Amino acid sequence: MSESVSNQSDTEAKFSSAPWENPLRDAGDKRLPLIAGPSGMVIFGVTGDLAKKKLLPAIYDLASRGLLPAGFPLVGYGRRDWSKQDFEQYVLEAVKAGARTEFRENVWQRLAEGMHFVKGNFDDDAAFDALAAQLKELDASRGTAGNWAFYLSVPPDYFSDVCHQLQRSGMAHAQGHAWRRVIVEKPFGNDQQTARELNRLINSVFPEKSVFRIDHYLGKETVQNIMALRFANQLFDPLWNSHYIDHVQITMAEDIGLGGRAGYYDGIGAARDVIQNHLIQLLALVAMEEPIDFTPEQLQAEKIKVLRATSPVEPFAKTTARGQYASGWQGSEYVQGLREEEGFDPNSTTETYAACTLQINSRRWAGVPFYLRTGKRLGRRVTEIALVFKDAPHQPFSEGSRHAQGQNVVVIRVQPDEGMLMRFGSKVPGSGMEVRDVNMDFSYSEAFTEESPEAYERLILDALLDEASLFPTNEEVELSWKILDPILEYWAQRGQPEEYPAGTWGPESADRMLARHNRAWRRP
Ligand code: BG6
Repeated sequence: MSESVSNQSDTEAKFSSAPWENPLRDAGDKRLPLIAGPSGMVIFGVTGDLAKKKLLPAIYDLASRGLLPAGFPLVGYGRRDWSKQDFEQYVLEAVKAGARTEFRENVWQRLAEGMHFVKGNFDDDAAFDALAAQLKELDASRGTAGNWAFYLSVPPDYFSDVCHQLQRSGMAHAQGHAWRRVIVEKPFGNDQQTARELNRLINSVFPEKSVFRIDHYLGKETVQNIMALRFANQLFDPLWNSHYIDHVQITMAEDIGLGGRAGYYDGIGAARDVIQNHLIQLLALVAMEEPIDFTPEQLQAEKIKVLRATSPVEPFAKTTARGQYASGWQGSEYVQGLREEEGFDPNSTTETYAACTLQINSRRWAGVPFYLRTGKRLGRRVTEIALVFKDAPHQPFSEGSRHAQGQNVVVIRVQPDEGMLMRFGSKVPGSGMEVRDVNMDFSYSEAFTEESPEAYERLILDALLDEASLFPTNEEVELSWKILDPILEYWAQRGQPEEYPAGTWGPESADRMLARHNRAWRRP
């Protein structure tokens, strides 16, 4: 046995006999998530907002829950002239500000030991060679067994450079049983054509099974619960179709504005930022048929089938709406409009509100419109899916006795106040027969004592475990663009979006979109 091989197995033995300490973890508990095997992660774009606010805290939380391999090394790559200590300090601040779990010094010390920073541009041969040498050293000293995940938290313009450098320096391909994976952040292109080119580029370096595209909505517990709700119960499925459902509303409303995000958002807008990925994925999960099981292949096959059957409803002048927030009262604060925000072009045509009508050409959903909407600086932060039911075909009640009754609704509340709500008519106590709407509410926080992990915790762990179910494939991404592209093309010819005051529920055209069919958006 060569010396380096024996050193390496000594290191592996050292780390495998010293798992992360987690007094809360009972090894016999089958409900606990798996622990990632020997591996490490390199983050490109580690100084960016996403890494600071989400990725680094999530990595700490995984370490704290005992779910990372013992010697887990975390390597940051970026342009700053940082030492290992500078990097550690930066990660420490991010963790203290954003981690979900309690800060524990011993967990931190152990994670910090494995941290390194490599300085360089994304097209710098020498810096990538230095990174490759660093990974080799860490393979030997931290027991990673050559298994590395590369997290591309960089704008897509840099994907090409990073992928080519990973290939040129030999890091994209592992020896023997070791693995290399790439985790990619959105935006996955600007339309179907550019998404295709991006996929081709990534797949020219990493085979599709090694590519993990992040859609962080799929990492949310409530989003995974859509599948539990639909397929673990008998209660809902018989009603989950065009015989009973009048229409579906998928809403992702935010109260925040875009201050500080002009660089990313201007020119992208709400539809590309949110509808193309999060909202179309929610639609797929709500509308797909039951998968044979929850393996990535089966789940993705069902999502792809329903996305292929989905298309936008025309004419877009009546079936879509687009807006841009103007100044206004957001609660008790008077806030600026988009065009006054720093970094935005005062003539910007970027929409901060987008709504559209989609249809699904299948037996289950024929004739049921799916209304999708998202916006910044709306009345409040809420993401929900509402299935609005048709009226009962016959009512033995007088008109007057039902004046306070609307349509039945099932609402899946993705966030905040995660849970589910059913709204239906009930008799008002008293001698008459008056019917009024009531709510039946399930709330995660009341039903379960466990706290939900953050979406990024789940997704980073899944990528390390090679569990691909919650990652959209290249085909899903391209199909989502195919659905959205005709609307984007139409909007591109329309100039400025309609303004709506901050703190309201969007432009008037969005209300007209539904009013035309005697429907209205929910005010969640
Ligand atoms: C991101 C969008 O994907 O999701 C942001 O780029 C948006 O614009 C964010 O604010 C919202 O995520 P969450 O998890 O807070 O709903």
